[in-house]
Amino acid sequence: MLNTSSSRVARSRAPASGAPRWRHIALLGGTTTWRDSLAAAGALLLPHRLTRGPAIAAYERAFAQRSGVRWAFSFANGRVGLYGILQALGVGPGDEVLLQAPTHIVVANAIRYLGARPVYVDCDPTTYNMDFVQAERLITPHTRVLLVQHTFGVPADLDAALALARRHGLALVEDCVHALGATYRGRPVGSFGQAAFFSSEETKIISTTFGGMATTDDAALAARLQAFQERCAWPSRLQAARSVLKFALYRVLMDPYLHRPMRALYELMGRRLPLPRPTSPDEERGERPDGYLCRLSNAQAALGVRQLRALDQNLEHRLLIAGTYERALTEQGVPIARAPDHMRPAYVRYPIWVPDRARAVRAINRYALPGLWFRSTLEDGVSPAAGGYQPGSCPHAEDAARHLVNLPTHPRVTAADAWRIAKALAPTLRARASADAPQTRNGVDTRHWERVSG
Ligand SMILES: Cc1ncc(COP(=O)(O)O)c(C=O)c1O
Repeated sequence: MLNTSSSRVARSRAPASGAPRWRHIALLGGTTTWRDSLAAAGALLLPHRLTRGPAIAAYERAFAQRSGVRWAFSFANGRVGLYGILQALGVGPGDEVLLQAPTHIVVANAIRYLGARPVYVDCDPTTYNMDFVQAERLITPHTRVLLVQHTFGVPADLDAALALARRHGLALVEDCVHALGATYRGRPVGSFGQAAFFSSEETKIISTTFGGMATTDDAALAARLQAFQERCAWPSRLQAARSVLKFALYRVLMDPYLHRPMRALYELMGRRLPLPRPTSPDEERGERPDGYLCRLSNAQAALGVRQLRALDQNLEHRLLIAGTYERALTEQGVPIARAPDHMRPAYVRYPIWVPDRARAVRAINRYALPGLWFRSTLEDGVSPAAGGYQPGSCPHAEDAARHLVNLPTHPRVTAADAWRIAKALAPTLRARASADAPQTRNGVDTRHWERVSG
């Protein structure tokens, strides 16, 4: 069964008492340690090493090795890696790229900035990954790329993806932004297609505040990606310093005992917060911002090396917490599925379909800030139309965008936190659980997934 090994899950028992009064789990700052934070602060004292330096090559080497491929190229964001991959594959005006909804607006943008057309495929309503039966129906003579997203870190059905790509001569590109370290049939995701891209933006499996990587095992593609990377601009020292400062500060500001007042302050300040944000207003409108093609800084790469070193523990922890949610919800009368044996998910967050999102958010908010991926078929877009999405074309994705909440899984969430969160959430789910079929949405795919018993 899934790697949320039952002995470890069993050890994570329900807490004897309620949460300490001030404890509140943030969605950010979860993967960093005090030492990482100190290393980030130390980097600010070496301004000549902020942008260029040897950590970049070291990080790329370690990342490629970890992803089971020969080459990795770092960028300012995952989206830039995707743009580079598509360009290296020769995608351009008139071409079509199949991608799933829901996804993030910046994924659609990378395709559209090259003059190609994003063609949206609905998700499977139980896994939130691509429905490959529908994908096949949408293939035309213009289709060049099958872009497969491992949503929430749960691997897509890569057997189906590879078969489809082969049948129609499509390039398979993996969106591993949620899924660093996940495996499928024992192999790391990202090593199945011609190329893959990853993110180390602060909400992902590892953090360098912002950051992305494009990986490939194809020598010709690697040469083109390297040339693309060389054409990308270096970040300014100020940009690198702001990212590193944010990294160092968030370890402190997102401490579970400080998070409530910090969150209140954040809401008060809103968009005036001086720290950098991942998506610009231009990108939210589907427009290309200035300085889009940018590299990762040396100081962030050095933090990436540190984060990669702790990746195994990080992933183990996420599986433990996901298993705890599954066990706790099942014990509360809401049967929940585990992923099948041949997958080891990375669980960037744990998604739950809830009948009434506002009610679920209130319940979870007693203990943690709930994640809300996805609030739209194109997350963070001013509207789905900004990415060329036709309303009504992906009904399962639209349903997910109304009903998903995501529970935190990062290393700062304890098993006791997970029990409390699940217990608070369960009453909002029980009404649905008794109404048979729709509760299968919470990850119980009757075709591929097994239900946890008891
Ligand atoms: C599924 C998915 N793909 C790609 C991206 C873009 O990653 P980055 O912010 O590193 O460009 C995101 C961003 O959250 C995402 O959720």
